[in-house]
Amino acid sequence: MQQVRVALGDRSYDIQVGGALIKTLGASCRELGLGAQCAVISDDQVAPLYAEAALASLRKAGFKPILHTIPAGEASKCLREVGRSYDVLATHRLERKSFIVALGGGVVGDLAGFVASSYLRGVAFVQVPTTLLAQVDSSVGGKVGVNLKAGKNLVGAFYQPRLVLCDLETFSTLPQREYRAGIAEVIKYGVIYDEALFSTLERKMDKVIKRDRKGLAEVVARCCEIKAEVVGQDETESGLRAILNFGHTIGHAIEAISGYGKFLHGEAISIGQVAAARLSERMLGFSSVETARVRELFVRAGLPVQLALKRASIERLMAATRLDKKVAGGEIRFVLARKIGVVEHGHKVPEALVREVVGSMGAQ
Ligand code: NAD
Ligand code: GLY
Repeated sequence: MQQVRVALGDRSYDIQVGGALIKTLGASCRELGLGAQCAVISDDQVAPLYAEAALASLRKAGFKPILHTIPAGEASKCLREVGRSYDVLATHRLERKSFIVALGGGVVGDLAGFVASSYLRGVAFVQVPTTLLAQVDSSVGGKVGVNLKAGKNLVGAFYQPRLVLCDLETFSTLPQREYRAGIAEVIKYGVIYDEALFSTLERKMDKVIKRDRKGLAEVVARCCEIKAEVVGQDETESGLRAILNFGHTIGHAIEAISGYGKFLHGEAISIGQVAAARLSERMLGFSSVETARVRELFVRAGLPVQLALKRASIERLMAATRLDKKVAGGEIRFVLARKIGVVEHGHKVPEALVREVVGSMGAQ
């Protein structure tokens, strides 16, 4: 088992990465001194696979867990499900010392974390992420929240978990498309922070795709370590944390104009990261050889890198980038790469250049 510390003073916590960790959930929660009552929040695809193991582990350690299940999918990341969750917690009389376990992908983690941040003005929560994306990204760093009709993640909080348990065995049931989508975030960490990780992925992508356990533990732990370092320096995204959004401005806009659902998030940011590399060439002298390496790695992961758009769609995409949460004072700011492993945030890019690069995404 590998362990990574997220250093945030009295809100510091560990991320554990390894096999069969769900079995240790109860003992780990006991070590944290959490209260007797708890609620495991999961979705209706993950719960039949892993809830019993989680509940059994908690019971064995002396806890009194209940299970609350939400329908799987992004549509559940909404205020209605938050309300339903509060009602379940209140019906079972969960109190201030009780805690919540989020067992599932990013949807469950974001929703359950938001419920934990606000029920009784905050109860402890533990993340047990079961998708690759959730293990390397959404379960770490404390961004919790839900969507509104007006847009994604518009209501939320920064609320850190007490522990993150990344059980690699949960990947055995994860659909391949979901798994590949998580690899887009893994590649991102190489591009933004760690040339050595990027090179490792170039050497080992074929094994990573096949979910080779040994190599995977190192890769997941390294991604968590990078996220922990970034969040440890800038918890609330006043600066550095923005680098985690490399490829996301265009990626989010692709998700928005294609009506959320056509592309998984990882697929959209795969196209977005190649576009961001091309913007970086023009703005920061990022080399075309490196853009080709970035593109090739996404292709080898089986992720899309191209999107041909008609003129009207280009305009809709441009409008969507202006609605992104990363807009400040009406200006879109991009994360751009100087070289693989080194990026800079807060770059203003002329709109004409963004339009040009977006317009040529079909041939990138
Ligand atoms: P998800 O939670 O919707 O899970 C994807 C699908 O896989 C679901 O149908 C789920 O039921 C199923 N599933 C999950 N684990 C499984 C397993 N082990 N075996 C079989 N099926 C399994 O999607 P996701 O990609 O994990 O998360 C996406 C969400 O994460 C989005 O809402 C996004 O906004 C959010 N997110 C949050 C952050 C953050 O910092 N908080 C960062 C990135 C993404
Ligand atoms: N996924 C981006 C962040 O956590 O800041």
